Amino acid sequence: MIGMIVAMSPDRVIGVGNKIPWHYSGDLKRFKAVTTGSTIIMGRRTYESIGRPLPKRRNLVVTRSGIADVECFTSLAGALDAVKGDAWIIGGAQLYAEGMRFADRIDVTYVPDRIPLEGAVLFPVIDEAVFEAGPFEKVEGEPFLKRRTFWRRIKSAG
Ligand SMILES: NC(=O)c1ccc[n+]([C@@H]2O[C@H](COP(=O)([O-])OP(=O)(O)OC[C@H]3O[C@@H](n4cnc5c(N)ncnc54)[C@H](OP(=O)(O)O)[C@@H]3O)[C@@H](O)[C@H]2O)c1
Repeated sequence: MIGMIVAMSPDRVIGVGNKIPWHYSGDLKRFKAVTTGSTIIMGRRTYESIGRPLPKRRNLVVTRSGIADVECFTSLAGALDAVKGDAWIIGGAQLYAEGMRFADRIDVTYVPDRIPLEGAVLFPVIDEAVFEAGPFEKVEGEPFLKRRTFWRRIKSAG
């Protein structure tokens, strides 16, 4: 399974100034629960934003250069080739855009925050001819959030 996991605003904003512009602890807890034990793949900017490898997960970073003591790959395809078991692409916008070709599913948390678009990075539009939306679900402990744990691939990448 190759998944992408993201939290986005109503305008598809996912980040500003290399940070996530909201904080919902219930969402972070679930991110941890979903990704623990699997491989997470991220772009260099997202790695720098987090600032350290996340524990109990294999951390792979996609970059044209290298980062000391971190498993780095010069392409997303190269990183995915190195994975045994489940892989989660965890951002940011560049990696999500590239991941659209590879992902079997997309797990989206929708936050209500209205973030100005200037300087923001956006999640790509999900092509509904390629991914089928699952139902909205409640988010435990976060009454203002909703989630689709499944956007499921219905058309293989061309
Ligand atoms: N809301 C969420 O769920 C969520 C999740 C994750 C991240 N974010 C946010 O997203 C933002 C970061 O996203 P971003 O799009 O700016 O950066 P990104 O995707 O995290 O990282 C971009 C970097 O990844 C490397 N890269 C990307 N494609 C590559 C390729 N094909 N080959 C080689 N290297 C490649 C490059 O690194 P080099 O420049 O080193 O070559 C590039 O500069 C931050 O604001 C972060 O907080 C939000």
